[in-house]
Amino acid sequence: MSATIRTVVFPVAGLGTRFLPATKSVPKEMLPVVDKPLIQYAVEEAVAAGATKLVFVTGRTKNAIADHFDTAYELETELAAKQKDELLTVAQSVLPHGVTCLYVRQSQPLGLGHAILCAKHLIQEDAFGVILPDDLIDNGADPVMCQLARHHHETGASVVSVAEVIPAHVSRYGVVDAPHFEGRSGRLQGIVEKPEPEDAPSNLAVVGRYLLSAEIFDILERTPADHRGEIQITDAIATLLKDRPVDAFQFEGEQFDCGNKLGFLQATVRLGMKHPEFGEAFGQWLKDQ
Ligand code: G1P
Repeated sequence: MSATIRTVVFPVAGLGTRFLPATKSVPKEMLPVVDKPLIQYAVEEAVAAGATKLVFVTGRTKNAIADHFDTAYELETELAAKQKDELLTVAQSVLPHGVTCLYVRQSQPLGLGHAILCAKHLIQEDAFGVILPDDLIDNGADPVMCQLARHHHETGASVVSVAEVIPAHVSRYGVVDAPHFEGRSGRLQGIVEKPEPEDAPSNLAVVGRYLLSAEIFDILERTPADHRGEIQITDAIATLLKDRPVDAFQFEGEQFDCGNKLGFLQATVRLGMKHPEFGEAFGQWLKDQ
């Protein structure tokens, strides 16, 4: 076992209705933050953690994602002919050599747990990662999936990444019960999906990064849909933790919920200000507003 994670699953079948009309024909994961689509940030994080197999759980309107990670033959030929070498490198480095993309369809919107279950037949490893591309986490030096992989390597536990949220926001997330934290992690005693603030076990919310034992698949197969008609990964984790160690991990990094417009704008501003080419000018312009 090493501190890397070979396979990462990206559940990307959601319709992205919160971003209409932008997402009418463009998958929300293809919306760019500064100069890269959201899904590429997620893929770069997975690759940094050692992933060589990327599994995209997609839907009917998501072909642009597969195109993005495919070779763009005409574009590359054109750029090579015009000796635009820098741009050619940008186009070619979207996916590093040795990394394979696999696509599986989630034909019905039956929830995140169901989406992950759709990837079951493509996972051979004992543990795998899950990244929800909506949750963009800025930590170039130490991507969150690397942090989770190290924690898994040290403890053997499945890991869910968590962050503190204000009580009014707990009903948007999975919320963990992990009363004894040591450093950045605490063993999970419970986890609930989108509780009312008065029922929440804590204010530690699950952010979109998981490193899960493959035993979760058998559990997901037995997990009933909730009152929304969805099979929740949260419910399956609640079952897993009865027999196997699962840890909550408070990651290092700034998280942006790009599933909503405010978070998306905040990510755009933060990463825009850090851009090597125009970050300084952009920051100055913002100050002058
Ligand atoms: C999903 C999970 C939730 C988690 C959240 C993180 O919810 O079900 O437990 O906290 O992602 O972004 P969704 O945002 O799909 O409603």
